[in-house]
Amino acid sequence: MQYNTLVLGSGGREHAMALMLSRSSMVGNLYVAPGNGGTYNCATTLPDIKPTDTTRIIDAVRKYEIGLVVVGPEDPLVMGLRDELTAVFPNLAIVGPDKYGAQLEGSKDFAKQFMQKYNIPTAAYQSFTGGMEAEAKAFLKTMQPPYVLKADGLAAGKGVLIISDLAEAENAIDDMLQGGKFGAAGNRVVIEEFLDGIEFSVFAAVDGKNYVILPTAKDYKRIGEGDTGLNTGGMGAVSPPPFVDQILMEKVEQRIISPTVEGLKKDGVDYRGFIFFGLINVQGEPMVIEYNCRLGDPETEVVLPRIVSDFGALCLGIHQGNLGDYQLEVTDQTATTVMLVSGGYPEDYKKGYEISGLQQVPHEVVVFHAGTTRHDEKICTSGGRVLAVTSFAANHQQALLSSYKAIEKLCFEDMYFRKDIGFDL
Ligand code: AMP
Ligand code: GLY
Repeated sequence: MQYNTLVLGSGGREHAMALMLSRSSMVGNLYVAPGNGGTYNCATTLPDIKPTDTTRIIDAVRKYEIGLVVVGPEDPLVMGLRDELTAVFPNLAIVGPDKYGAQLEGSKDFAKQFMQKYNIPTAAYQSFTGGMEAEAKAFLKTMQPPYVLKADGLAAGKGVLIISDLAEAENAIDDMLQGGKFGAAGNRVVIEEFLDGIEFSVFAAVDGKNYVILPTAKDYKRIGEGDTGLNTGGMGAVSPPPFVDQILMEKVEQRIISPTVEGLKKDGVDYRGFIFFGLINVQGEPMVIEYNCRLGDPETEVVLPRIVSDFGALCLGIHQGNLGDYQLEVTDQTATTVMLVSGGYPEDYKKGYEISGLQQVPHEVVVFHAGTTRHDEKICTSGGRVLAVTSFAANHQQALLSSYKAIEKLCFEDMYFRKDIGFDL
């Protein structure tokens, strides 16, 4: 049986998911909403439907006889899209947790409490709400600098402050709890211990009881070379990062992934979707920086293309609860991606510039579209992160050479990219 499938989202992650699903023997007609300039090549693109527009999604599920919905970004999940779709279509297969489970990402306080309850290694913390400024500042004084302050709710990756100076950190507490910095997301603040180490990302597909661990990755979040400057959605990624060896991954599975899935089950959460473990290797000991209730971007653009087994079957296994039978097959090749962004990103930038050279990229390189749109035959920029250029080779050095060589063919006004992805590996 084949399932007509709808992917929700518009980034490089969703283009990668759609490309994988377009190759699946389990997938019938494939739709992406709202998609981007690249998703037209592998799916029917529905540019007028936003991932949070529940009413239009329900209409689309009916109209296109959708059997499988794969949710890319976190906001619809945190808002309860799964719950709303399930209420209307009890048999619809949905990849993505319900509103309760999505709190793993939607509330840092929820995630920290969960980790504490199940002894999952993470930074020591306390959380504070408005009116508790004095307690929060007293707690700060018990911590060593730098101080890590996090807005509790979703803040599009910008809700974390790392501050060396005590007085500045105290002011930031007032800004968040009284001044509305980060809006409602900052009404509760988590203060936690600073962890020193190298970060990496691990994704697991979870069907409520079983899990499948996907290939590991490392992303590069800062805009500037040498990991400097503002945080972005991600400027590039490598899968697998060579420092994540079998010994480290055994610890990750035993201490983090397995107790997370078990803990959700014990708490009565029927979690069916992906869990993104944002991890840090502190002298050989993995610890959790954060959970996300979805795949990462741009990690997905290096993780999924390494999967040789049927990705549609993986998504259906998440729904059917039979991931225990899924045999994940992964290529030994390393994948790298380099993100081409609009000049000015992650601050203000212009859009609407035509992109040239897409046809000149060698066919073994995959260009995932992120912030692009299609106008007639032209592809134009429409976002901060524009294209993710993914290559494969025996090691990350060679794969990066290939990504950078392909980038020489690509051009748009004010194009910027980091030339040092993988510099620390
Ligand atoms: P988050 O949104 O929780 O992933 O945090 C964003 C980034 O802040 C992470 O990717 C880390 O680089 C950094 N960060 C968050 N928490 C900590 C911590 N406890 N210690 C050190 N760095 C952190
Ligand atoms: N690349 C990090 C994220 O997707 O949150």
